[in-house]
Amino acid sequence: MCLQKMFGIWVFVAIFSSIEGYKVLVVFPIPAGSHRNLGDGYVRNLLKAGHEVTYITPFPYESSDPNLRLITTGDTVNAISGSSLNITALMLHEVEMDQDRHFQLAINITKNTLKNKSVQKLLNDPSESFDVIVAEWMFNDVYCGFSALFRCPYIWSFPYETNSISLGLLGEFSNPAYTANIETSDVPPFDFWQRVYSLWFRITSRVQHLFFYENIEKNLYEEIFSPILKKRGITTLPEYDILRYNASLILGNTDPSIGQALALPENYIPIAGYHIDEVKPLPQDLKDILDDAKHGVIYFSLGSNLKSKDFPEKILQDLLKLFGELQQTVIWKFEQSLTNKPANVHILKWAPQQSILAHPNCVLFITHGGMLSVTEAVHFSVPFIGLPVFYDQNFNVAKSVQRGFALKVSLSLNLAEDLKDAVQEILNNNTYREAMKQTSITYHNRMIPPGDELVYWVEYVVRTNGAPHYRSAALLLPWYQKMYLDFIATVIVCVCLFIYMIKTLCIKCKVQKIKSS
Ligand SMILES: *[C@@H]1O[C@H](CO)[C@@H](O)[C@H](O)[C@H]1NC(C)=O
Repeated sequence: MCLQKMFGIWVFVAIFSSIEGYKVLVVFPIPAGSHRNLGDGYVRNLLKAGHEVTYITPFPYESSDPNLRLITTGDTVNAISGSSLNITALMLHEVEMDQDRHFQLAINITKNTLKNKSVQKLLNDPSESFDVIVAEWMFNDVYCGFSALFRCPYIWSFPYETNSISLGLLGEFSNPAYTANIETSDVPPFDFWQRVYSLWFRITSRVQHLFFYENIEKNLYEEIFSPILKKRGITTLPEYDILRYNASLILGNTDPSIGQALALPENYIPIAGYHIDEVKPLPQDLKDILDDAKHGVIYFSLGSNLKSKDFPEKILQDLLKLFGELQQTVIWKFEQSLTNKPANVHILKWAPQQSILAHPNCVLFITHGGMLSVTEAVHFSVPFIGLPVFYDQNFNVAKSVQRGFALKVSLSLNLAEDLKDAVQEILNNNTYREAMKQTSITYHNRMIPPGDELVYWVEYVVRTNGAPHYRSAALLLPWYQKMYLDFIATVIVCVCLFIYMIKTLCIKCKVQKIKSS
């Protein structure tokens, strides 16, 4: 009896200690600092949970964990830092970061990544296998092909606030009357013209995608994945239009405390903040600067893609003059050294942003309003001034202004003057700090930390064989059936037939009447 019991316990322990880590392929090839942080967040959390991670990234990743294998695609690193992201050019509308530019940039990165030597080696090795794939969605769906190749489920990581595109990947429709297009500054509730514009924007973007981009995506998908499958004796690549909508989940880099309140499908999991690790101690010299700032610190950074050094000289000089007049200490992430800077202004080529925002003396953040910067501002409860430049920065800043913990300043040659008013307003009016404090409490108030939630859902997808029970029946309906167009057509035909019949009957009646009279 006792022996039996012991055997039982032994089996129990053996089963649980033999739960091996899953093999996860993490694909984050966008060569930009914020996307790197998002990818690193997956890798860090998955490694901590004991999984085996293969990480496709353009950047190095410092780790001695034997469960990590890096596949570095460094040759795409310069794809983004070209002229398109020059802040002056964007400010003067010499270039527009519109849908077209985003698509072209992203599809080129996708192409270069998939044709990269190390990635090709991985794809062409028939002995490679994975339990699940996490791929970052960036303006095309081509990475869904990984799941056809490795015959395993895949998860989209969506880097932005939820929108019609990410919901569309799960077959969900979002009503443009009250769902923001994150590329614009319009935040619901919309007025009449905003509602009209929202619909117009939605339709034109969709049409543009349908006619100009879909084929490019599909061709790349077939060009890359078809020959590899053929080599393995599989002649039929799944149809692109089916596989791209076959993700098991979307892990969204958003939280309702930051973004919109939307009716999300059950396989859309918001996990914003998962990229934030324990706060690392500041380097001593920087710590001294922050500790000694009696009147607080203003931290100014335009993120990793936009460079402060690209500002026109006049704006730079105006900003330096403005900062010099402030009582606060200003820490400015700036890519070059500046000669005539005032004593209270400190330049950092690279800034440990999270550690700076976490310091109790940090009273104000001036940011471009990228999703990660906004999330970190809320995480560490620092009110901010947003200078949105492109894409979702417009929505992120507008939504934060609506929530009362941020102000927006438009990029223009008058930047310094406008900024001065905003800085005074935010520092002297306590409502921004109070609103931020409450939002931060809301944001932190979750059942489980976002990093653990990420791990839970990745494991969930493996354990449930791709979570097919979450898949919406909407994915099985053609669009005209979803919109009841077939039904409307049937009704119209019936009504027409009915009218026609009545008419012919009446004519017959009349003819008979004439005959009989
Ligand atoms: C879609 O995903 C499910 C679950 O992961 C999988 O069983 C199925 O084969 C996939 N479909 C295609 C076309 O790959």
